[in-house]
Amino acid sequence: MLMGTVACSVRPALHGVSSASIQAKPGRIRIMAIKVGDKLPDATFNTMSPEGPKPMTTADVFDGKKVVLFAVPGAFTPTCHNTHLPGFIQIAGDMKSKGIDTIACVSVNDVFVLNAWAKQTGAEGKILFLADGSADFTKKIGLEFDLTARGLGVRSRRYSMVIENGVVKSMNLEEGATVDKSSAATVCGML
Ligand code: BEZ
Repeated sequence: MLMGTVACSVRPALHGVSSASIQAKPGRIRIMAIKVGDKLPDATFNTMSPEGPKPMTTADVFDGKKVVLFAVPGAFTPTCHNTHLPGFIQIAGDMKSKGIDTIACVSVNDVFVLNAWAKQTGAEGKILFLADGSADFTKKIGLEFDLTARGLGVRSRRYSMVIENGVVKSMNLEEGATVDKSSAATVCGML
């Protein structure tokens, strides 16, 4: 199983990771990837509002709601831009008619880049973009992906989830570079 790792010395406080399993190793803490039945950890995203950047917590986004969340390695990167996001834009209406309150996209990007992506792709008003700029949420759920060697730093793995009132009901994590399990069509078929 894939796991995130954080050095104890630089992450002494692990508030909000109670939903993920933690395994101690000398000098390291390993966080198992989140799974079906787990509650999302407490984290704060940045979103864009008419007044400018606005923080939103996991409670703000997920409490009392049925949410489809999908994660991409990066705004404007080829597969995310040409395949993954467009699928969700196209069938956002179908998902909402099946009882989904919010379709949200999380990415380890800053809020300005995500806002530009929303505007350029026509996703504005259909998809809530959650900027996880420092990968805090992504690391807490154990789904980070180190692309440092390619000059992109730490990013998120590609996945989609159905989340009800903050609890993961289904988890579709890609193992390879394709958009298959995590696609809009796949998750819509599960609703
Ligand atoms: C993509 O095509 O989505 C992608 C490319 C390079 C790094 C991460 C994502």
